[in-house]
Amino acid sequence: MSEEPFVLCDNLVKIHKIADLEVVALQGLDLEVKQGELLGIVGASGSGKSTLLNILGGLDRPSAGRVTVGGRDLLKMSDAALTTYRRTQVGFVWQQGARNVIPYLSSESNVELPMILAGRAGGAARKHAIELLDAVGLADRRHHYLGQLSGGEQQRVAIAVALANAPSLLLADEPTGELDSATALTIYGAFRELCKRYGVTTLIVSHDPKIARQVDRVVAIRDGKLAGETVRRVQVTQPGDESRGQAIHEEHFEEYAVLDSAGRLQLPKELREQYGIRERARLEPADAGILVKAVEREASHEATVVEEKVEYVKPSERRGLRGLFSRRASKSKS
Ligand SMILES: Nc1ncnc2c1ncn2[C@@H]1O[C@H](COP(=O)(O)OP(=O)(O)OP(=O)(O)O)[C@@H](O)[C@H]1O
Ligand SMILES: [Mg+2]
Repeated sequence: MSEEPFVLCDNLVKIHKIADLEVVALQGLDLEVKQGELLGIVGASGSGKSTLLNILGGLDRPSAGRVTVGGRDLLKMSDAALTTYRRTQVGFVWQQGARNVIPYLSSESNVELPMILAGRAGGAARKHAIELLDAVGLADRRHHYLGQLSGGEQQRVAIAVALANAPSLLLADEPTGELDSATALTIYGAFRELCKRYGVTTLIVSHDPKIARQVDRVVAIRDGKLAGETVRRVQVTQPGDESRGQAIHEEHFEEYAVLDSAGRLQLPKELREQYGIRERARLEPADAGILVKAVEREASHEATVVEEKVEYVKPSERRGLRGLFSRRASKSKS
């Protein structure tokens, strides 16, 4: 595996234009995804999640910045090359089941269809379809028509369909949006299994912050930029011989703020409110790291005083800022 990340977004900008109106959907987004990683993407409605997915899938082009997938520069590709990229390298799973599958075909035929369209028919295609349906836990449903399957099962067929032509990147935009939380778990299970079995790099957009339990890492997008990430780590401990117990799997979640390529950091709103940090903050080097502190009231009062003074000190009396402060201090005492 090369050191270069499989997906790389560097200062990615996307401006949507409708008539005279411009909407900045991505404003300098930086993201790296390793090959074979299972990544969740969360963020409020309108934060730019679908825009990012559409760009990575070659359905849309960015306005500025850099974006590469598997070493391919999506910005420099011709339209024809981008179409080939989309057809051969990307699998999509959408929120609406109907967009993913054909209702009057069986599960197996749905999975076979993309292979047939790509010129791969016959026994090998069928074998691969069965294998994929098995991977998503639907081996026993392969002859069912889509209408005979539950919403969750249909969505698992959709995931198998998306992988039919062995894409290197799997993109899912709110694949569990129309499902209850128990069914959503089976969908995440299918993604995990496929990601592990085929090593396909998988990005899942979700509104649900609980997705962190289901994937390797979750990144949060806020206003078209990466704001933070949560990494899931599984610690396995084997109890001593005498207990003959089973290995214990413990999950830990580590939350990080992320810095963009210019070193900018977004402080979460809750923390800013909790510590009274507004438009300015003081950075103090400490033993363990850098302390970000609210600017105390006194300091902001001082700034106001300077402005007040400049207005009523006569030009002939001006003796520089030091003079201003000392006079101000003696006046306020009186
Ligand atoms: N084709 C388009 N034309 C114009 N504006 C668009 C287009 N697509 C998205 N936008 C705007 O860009 C911003 C980001 O939209 P996007 O669909 O990426 O958000 P999202 O995070 O996927 O939201 P949701 O969770 O609601 O799906 C929004 O302000 C949206 O209105
Ligand atoms: Mg969206």
